[in-house]
Amino acid sequence: MFHAPNVPRVRKRLRPAEAVVPRREGVKFEDVRLYLVERKMGRSRRNFLTQLARSKGFIVEDVLSDEVTHVVSEESQASSLWKWLKECALKNLPSVHVLDISWFTESMREGRPVAVETRHLVQDTLLTLPEGSTPTPVATVSQYACQRRTTTENNNKIFTDAFEVLAENYEFNEIEGPCQAFRRAASVLKSLPWAVRCLGATQDLPCLGEHTKAVMEEILQHGRSFEVERILSDERYQTLKLFTSVFGVGPKTAEKWYRRGLRSFSDILADRSIHLNRMQQSGFLHYEDISRAVSKAEARSLRNIIDEVVHAITPAAILALTGGFRRGKEFGHDVDFIVTTPELGREETLLPDIIDELKKQGILLYCEYQASTFDIAKLPSCRFEAMDHYAKCFLILRLEGSQVEGGLHRAEGDSRGWRAVRVDLVSPPVDRYAFALLGWTGSRQFERDLRRFAQVKRRMLLDNHALYDKTKKEFLAATTEKDIFAHLGLEYIEPWQRNA
Ligand code: CTP
Ligand code: MN
Ligand code: MN
Repeated sequence: MFHAPNVPRVRKRLRPAEAVVPRREGVKFEDVRLYLVERKMGRSRRNFLTQLARSKGFIVEDVLSDEVTHVVSEESQASSLWKWLKECALKNLPSVHVLDISWFTESMREGRPVAVETRHLVQDTLLTLPEGSTPTPVATVSQYACQRRTTTENNNKIFTDAFEVLAENYEFNEIEGPCQAFRRAASVLKSLPWAVRCLGATQDLPCLGEHTKAVMEEILQHGRSFEVERILSDERYQTLKLFTSVFGVGPKTAEKWYRRGLRSFSDILADRSIHLNRMQQSGFLHYEDISRAVSKAEARSLRNIIDEVVHAITPAAILALTGGFRRGKEFGHDVDFIVTTPELGREETLLPDIIDELKKQGILLYCEYQASTFDIAKLPSCRFEAMDHYAKCFLILRLEGSQVEGGLHRAEGDSRGWRAVRVDLVSPPVDRYAFALLGWTGSRQFERDLRRFAQVKRRMLLDNHALYDKTKKEFLAATTEKDIFAHLGLEYIEPWQRNA
């Protein structure tokens, strides 16, 4: 239930002495005062939208008063909204804009109050419109992860963990559709600033199908999903999960070993007919270390080490942290960097030079280097390929504990002064930098939806190399990630909001 505005409190707040409320810092639009109607919107969503608007420099009033210029509502019944507004007895009601959420959404996207148009208005049906001609409410959570903001804070972990198990199990069984469906559902729930407490709350959310909702219902009722528990105790799932946790072992190899009747690492290592490639050998050799998460402090230390190496090679070098740590994660399975130089073509020898230097320092435990196969003439690529064509290397480095602030993230009882860490380096030509950075920042789900959005909504092809407009038949240039979002007509999403 919403409440009638508390008029005396409003007056008090507006007395000159108290007119300067601390929250008003960072206000960009003095003339616009928003009020968000809680009914239908819900308290947590209202709080979220309020924070969002304030962060963009809008004034949002907690209480409806004559100061308010724009009322925003998600009420689909215009008549009931207007009935309530009239009960509030505002003196300036005729001059207030009464708007549906589309005006708010567009204003947030633009970062300024957009001009009020007829299509934004919630018409006073009691006066002007015949019943039934109210505007339909706009769906507010997009089906595309690139139109959602997803921080590392996950309010729905109990559901998303379960979905991840289901998705992975479908992946092991090569059933693509349901695998993607569960990944998308998990991604939608991760973006919510509130926890789902009843199934009714998911009514207006995209990407939640019958199967997903059934799993959620089970978790809401019993605290766990029986389907997920069955999978977790399944021998095949457990074995494939174990085998794919080894660096260099994908689902195909894991499956092959499983079919041969192998169930444990010792089974594999004892089987003389199995040939492990170099990557897998290192994977087993450093298993304990590299299956342990890398901490932010460890990532920072590695950044310093690489930074020094790169700049000794070429002072003008550009080094950027990317991957999960750029998205603000506390832990990762590896540390990802982009390195390049302002001088086009010079990047070709950069990785080999870096690798040489790491070897000289005695900290290179493993290196798989892939030279560039990038050919600008072969763009655009219509089929998205799992790997981009830039020069890259997958490394295992030795990290000394003395170089990590607060020490290493180590197993209990491990008294060595060092650990092995996985590091990825990619080296695009500098004119491809923005595309590479966007592609390597992830998350995987965010990237997938960026490409799907580009393709479906804009008839454009996006990958780690370029953005191509199929309608105009031309490439769209970009020097920053913001340029790419702008070309796609998307509101810019910060790296730390891409944890989809
Ligand atoms: N990536 C890519 N091409 C590759 C490898 C990775 O474009 N050949 C991208 C992935 O899409 C991902 C990002 O690089 O968005 C980082 O990959 P990865 O390190 O696997 O994932 P993170 O998001 O960094 O997760 P984690 O913290 O577990 O490392
Ligand atoms: Mn990573
Ligand atoms: Mn990586």
